[in-house]
Amino acid sequence: MISLLGPIIAACILRTAAAQSISGTATEFAPVNSPLDCGFIVRPSALAVLLSPEAFDPSQCLAVIGVTFNGTEVDMRVAGTCDACEGTDIEISTEGYEVLGAPLGSTIDVTYVIQ
Ligand SMILES: *[C@@H]1O[C@H](CO)[C@@H](O)[C@H](O)[C@H]1NC(C)=O
Repeated sequence: MISLLGPIIAACILRTAAAQSISGTATEFAPVNSPLDCGFIVRPSALAVLLSPEAFDPSQCLAVIGVTFNGTEVDMRVAGTCDACEGTDIEISTEGYEVLGAPLGSTIDVTYVIQ
């Protein structure tokens, strides 16, 4: 029993350490039922986020990313990279903008945590 707890506690600590809040600028993208860098189809209704080429790693595909805008936090999924993004910039799907209450087409300041 005790021998099982060690790895579980270690996993929890690693998970907490990795979940760091990042500030960035977001723009909207409209998914068109095609696969992006992660390889899965991104539907127009998806709550999807694209990361900059520097920030993206394939191991993050489908990771939950908690995006906060203007006090509203919404869990979305990492779906690939956005070529126009740099650093901590992200792109958020149209559905994500709507659920966040962000004006469509606008550039917004967000914070996010990749879990
Ligand atoms: C943030 O939310 C408040 C209250 O709902 C709203 O009045 C304000 O317009 C929002 N700000 C932006 C940038 O959307």
